[in-house]
Amino acid sequence: MKKKTIGPEVQKVRESLFASFEEKKKELEDSALDEKLNSGWIDVTKNYPRTHGSIHPLSRVQKRVEEIFTSMGFEIYEGPEVETEWRNFDALNIPSTHPARDMQDTFFINSKNDDPHKNTVLRTHTSNNQIRRMMEGGVPVRVAVPGRCYRNEAIDASHDAIFYQVEGLMVDKGISLAHLKGTIQTMLSELFEREVTIRFRPGYFPFVEPGLEVDFSCLICNGKGCKTCKNSGWIEFMGAGMVHPNVLRNCGVDPEEYSGFAFGFGLTRLAMMKYGIDDIRLLFSQKKEFLAQF
Ligand code: DAH
Repeated sequence: MKKKTIGPEVQKVRESLFASFEEKKKELEDSALDEKLNSGWIDVTKNYPRTHGSIHPLSRVQKRVEEIFTSMGFEIYEGPEVETEWRNFDALNIPSTHPARDMQDTFFINSKNDDPHKNTVLRTHTSNNQIRRMMEGGVPVRVAVPGRCYRNEAIDASHDAIFYQVEGLMVDKGISLAHLKGTIQTMLSELFEREVTIRFRPGYFPFVEPGLEVDFSCLICNGKGCKTCKNSGWIEFMGAGMVHPNVLRNCGVDPEEYSGFAFGFGLTRLAMMKYGIDDIRLLFSQKKEFLAQF
């Protein structure tokens, strides 16, 4: 009898206790969430002091160079660091007996074969990617190829066995050295944010004919002559030229119909100029005081 009257009362109390328990629980959860949201708020526009990491000067210059070439209609292409002997040398008109091979001290990965398609090297330059890109995608082509290269060199203040290059290739109908001049002058002027002029000197590279050495006007003295440019007013910058007919033929391109220019420059050198770095070894030293400047 008692059970019949007390039971529903107890049930009511139970329900109301549960209800207030749930209510309190939700309140606590909401306030915990609010607190979390409030304390975790990051003002992305605020200029916080930098506590860790910065972008390496080489990466900065590479990114900027890529942006500039992209704005001129170039595609950015990257190839592997281990390359066949054929693409690194033979296809570029540098056969095994050619004295030009001695210009590039090579790290061989595999050199047991007579067949240059089977031997592999650490690429000694980025020029091999002219071959890759033309064989893969044909012509017309307008491409810039940044990449790490390797040579078995003695290391000093301006040489390292590992270095970074940017290769450029433009092949189409009616391309001439005037296009090369315009492209490079624009690229350098954009990069250094001022008018830069360039000059051509005759040079020799087996994969171009005619071959050129390209200099740019010294940024320190504006061409008047100073220590940096050894009083010449010019800074040696890169190799370039008109793509050799043999190279075009090796990639299945008809040199009667198409012509093009190619160039290759050192990114390391450019970064050193841009940031006034006088010893190449600093770039790979991992010194915090050096890196923190960028
Ligand atoms: N591959 C050359 C080097 O590493 C640089 C170079 C010279 C690239 C002339 C070119 C070129 O495309 O036309 O020394």
